[in-house]
Amino acid sequence: MVVDLGAQYAQLIARRVREAHVYSEIVPHDTSIDELRVRRPAGIILSGGPASVYEAGGPRVDPAVFELGVPVLGICYGHQLMAQALGGEVEATGQREYGATSLMLSDRGPGVLLADLPARDTVWMSHGDAVTREPDGFRVTAATDQIPIAAMEDPSRGLYAVQFHPEVSHTAHGQAVMKRFLYDGCDLLPDWTPTNIIDEQVGRIREQVGDAQVLCALSGGVDSAVAALLVHRAVGDQLTCVFVDHGLNREGEPDQVEETFARHFRIPLVHVKAADRFLARLAGVTDPEVKRKTIGEEFIRVFEEVARERSDAGFLVQGTLYPDVIESGSKTAANIKSHHNVGGLPEDIAFDLVEPLRDLFKDEVRAVGAELGLPEEIVGRQPFPGPGLAVRIVGEVNAENLTKVRGADAVVREEITRAGLDRTTWQAFCVLLADVQSVGVMGDGRTYENPVIVRAVTSEDAMTADWARLPDDVLDRIASRIVREVPGVNRVAYDITSKPPGTIEWE
Ligand code: XMP
Repeated sequence: MVVDLGAQYAQLIARRVREAHVYSEIVPHDTSIDELRVRRPAGIILSGGPASVYEAGGPRVDPAVFELGVPVLGICYGHQLMAQALGGEVEATGQREYGATSLMLSDRGPGVLLADLPARDTVWMSHGDAVTREPDGFRVTAATDQIPIAAMEDPSRGLYAVQFHPEVSHTAHGQAVMKRFLYDGCDLLPDWTPTNIIDEQVGRIREQVGDAQVLCALSGGVDSAVAALLVHRAVGDQLTCVFVDHGLNREGEPDQVEETFARHFRIPLVHVKAADRFLARLAGVTDPEVKRKTIGEEFIRVFEEVARERSDAGFLVQGTLYPDVIESGSKTAANIKSHHNVGGLPEDIAFDLVEPLRDLFKDEVRAVGAELGLPEEIVGRQPFPGPGLAVRIVGEVNAENLTKVRGADAVVREEITRAGLDRTTWQAFCVLLADVQSVGVMGDGRTYENPVIVRAVTSEDAMTADWARLPDDVLDRIASRIVREVPGVNRVAYDITSKPPGTIEWE
């Protein structure tokens, strides 16, 4: 159980625990000690946080947490809270350590937590205060040039603490520290695996759904695909998938949905080809938010029509992920995130929700998908906005503009894949500037056509992003192919804005 003390790192800590194949959840710092006890965690991790232990009003944990008989790992601020609560000393040394720092193990040995680290190692620090005296019973296991107590532990009481951040990738052996805490400190087994996740979810879905009929809206993306496969594994043909094809998808994606679900997995699929309806509603619309709203409303209308024909269906599958659950701040609220299905489904729709991905992070969803036999093209698919290519046309969404942006997008995707850059690129796509024309020359003639912006970014979670340093030859092939192969486009530019200040999409 990861106690969130206000760090931007709590999610990352929970993910690292999962990567060690141990189930983890995040709880707010004001979770009462009784609730912690009732939930019977096998181990507790106190996250870092921006506060100082001297600040009034900074987040605190009940010191009784150290007497639950449950192993505790304190990280950064958690390390300081542990020291302070158990009679050690924390001082504002005035010496800030930030970034990569050299960690030296104690001559008296690395103890349990740091057993896999070399005598000197690189760790990531971010703190002002420091622990200057360890509590009674603790042994100091590492120091840096600046601080004498960079790690300490009392294995007899199951208490461990580090000033550095083992969860960030800049800490060379951070994951080894996590594993030692989980496997040795907490005596846990690495049994949170895709196979076990599937077994558990299948059991839960069967119990929830019984013999009722279930509907699932497929978007073509990985989340709804994996959610559908899990439900299908659990209740077979009680599941009907609905793919509302709004005509705003990338090249080949509607066929692939059909191929994968209807033909390969033999899941009953209603493929609603509604491109004309969406285009009619979008005629003349150029404002991004109006586009989103229009598409969202039309999506609901189409979905309602299908749902009315299937009035026997009592359940609706949603691909809500754990980060959405954390963000909405509640484990119980049936929070339908609008991102998942374009505009969100209406609140009065008479379904109970089945949310088989509620406990999972994105990388776990992919692992489960792969285990269930979902093809790599879907498992590894980049995030794609619900309103699709409509928000990648600056200007009006019409058939002609869609053909241009779809054609250019297909070139980018092909070249990124050919260069082996799919895994390192978070998203790579094109934006058509439909209202801009520039002069060019092609063959013997002058052209006056639209530019296309190529956007490729690296990111961990889409909250921040950097522009991808694509190799020159890849950019060169992309640019020349787009101008050659996509009629109506005569110029290609590469967007080198990071997020912030830019966003990933242009609209
Ligand atoms: P921005 O442009 O805000 O995008 O940096 C962050 C991530 O969200 C995706 N995105 C959307 N996804 N509906 C969606 O389902 C939307 O309206 C939408 N707008 C942006 C975007 O592709 C990126 O991954």
